[in-house]
Amino acid sequence: MKTIWLACLLVVAVNCRPESLEKRYDGHQVLKVFPNLLENFKNIEALGAKYNLDFWNHPKHQNGTYDIQVSPEHVTDVINELKSLGADASVWIHDIQSLIDESRPSDHQKRASGTLSMNHYHSYAEINTFLNSIVSSNSHTHLDNLGTSLQGRSINLIRFSTGSTSRGTHKKSIFMDGGIHAREWIAPAVVLYMIDQLANNPNNDPDIANLLDKFDWYLVPLVNPDGYEYSRNGDRMWRKNMASSYGTQHSFFGCGSNEMGVDLNRNFGYHWDPANGGSFDQCQETYAGPHALSEPETKAMAHALDSVTSHTLAYLNIHSYGQYWIYPWGYTRHLPPDAADLDHLGRVATTALYHVHGSRYTVGEDTVVLYSAAGGADDYAKGHSGIKYAYTVELGDTGKYGFLLPERYIQTSGQELWAGVKAMAHELIRLYHL
Ligand code: ARG
Ligand code: ZN
Repeated sequence: MKTIWLACLLVVAVNCRPESLEKRYDGHQVLKVFPNLLENFKNIEALGAKYNLDFWNHPKHQNGTYDIQVSPEHVTDVINELKSLGADASVWIHDIQSLIDESRPSDHQKRASGTLSMNHYHSYAEINTFLNSIVSSNSHTHLDNLGTSLQGRSINLIRFSTGSTSRGTHKKSIFMDGGIHAREWIAPAVVLYMIDQLANNPNNDPDIANLLDKFDWYLVPLVNPDGYEYSRNGDRMWRKNMASSYGTQHSFFGCGSNEMGVDLNRNFGYHWDPANGGSFDQCQETYAGPHALSEPETKAMAHALDSVTSHTLAYLNIHSYGQYWIYPWGYTRHLPPDAADLDHLGRVATTALYHVHGSRYTVGEDTVVLYSAAGGADDYAKGHSGIKYAYTVELGDTGKYGFLLPERYIQTSGQELWAGVKAMAHELIRLYHL
């Protein structure tokens, strides 16, 4: 062991990964489960609590399926219990670790300043270098530190603004963020892709100047930098932030690690309610926190959303996976009064997105398409900040790789989301006579 570490120290310049510190998922599987019977929805949730299962995905309708991550020691028991309930289970991903290895960020060369490879998942530091070099060479861009994460990383917003309208008023804005959930690496990657389009226009797209002229663009590539870095260096399947234990409910090692974490997308302060699609238990993936906006990351985002409300038309909270373009409310099945407008704009965006590579996205209200969950960023942006077109976008894929999408999909995901966002922007120009 000592010699390994010594060897590590010696070759640290050539990127020696302390592999032994990374949580491994050898033999962990993802099961696709058909509940078959109505009562099995409850039974399967109970199995989740009993075996501490990570639900990657929940069924959207009675005939839908669960994607459930199971550890090797429980696979046989879980499959047997499911069978005895009358549910069908088949192994969908045989070995999570091999997918982790396949989607591991590869080594990449340093590039010219102001550019970033769109074929790689980047570290927090690389992302910041990229943002800084853009603002230092582009007078229409500004970097704002929205707040500081628990471990002291700044949550950065890059703003593209060419000035006020010809009438001297504030331009309309579009606000997008990614990386609120740590393991959903494709989300920050596509936000960076869009930043690159706006800043560097690598494809010489004649439309970019117009989009910069019509809108101010607000982009936060990494809402949860601590969780993201932990998912890169500690536990690839990490979802939450890095809050440590709240209260005495769990001991230091209560969750198998001292990092309990809060699900930031259950922590926003509009109808916050852990009992509604979240959890009171800090060991659960959907722990909603001790109270609304308890976390510095959600506070920072809430403050940013509240401060742009007078001029911001659209907000996209970008996640993976499942291919959904969904809108509030997440806390109730009741539709907002202008649901038809949100539905329309979502369909405009996803139709354009579809025409790039043929990816089909489902458009609808959160609870109808996905599940009910209070404390989400989309609900806050619409309900509290008053941003009309607030969406959650779940990028690809539909489950082949799930959260473990390999780097070769970054370009195609970026291309199609950007096409969707541009179509949305053009529809807003038309609707608002911008
Ligand atoms: N997958 C996302 C999550 O679990 C969906 C959020 C949808 N929005 C909502 N307010 N429930 O956080
Ligand atoms: Zn997510």
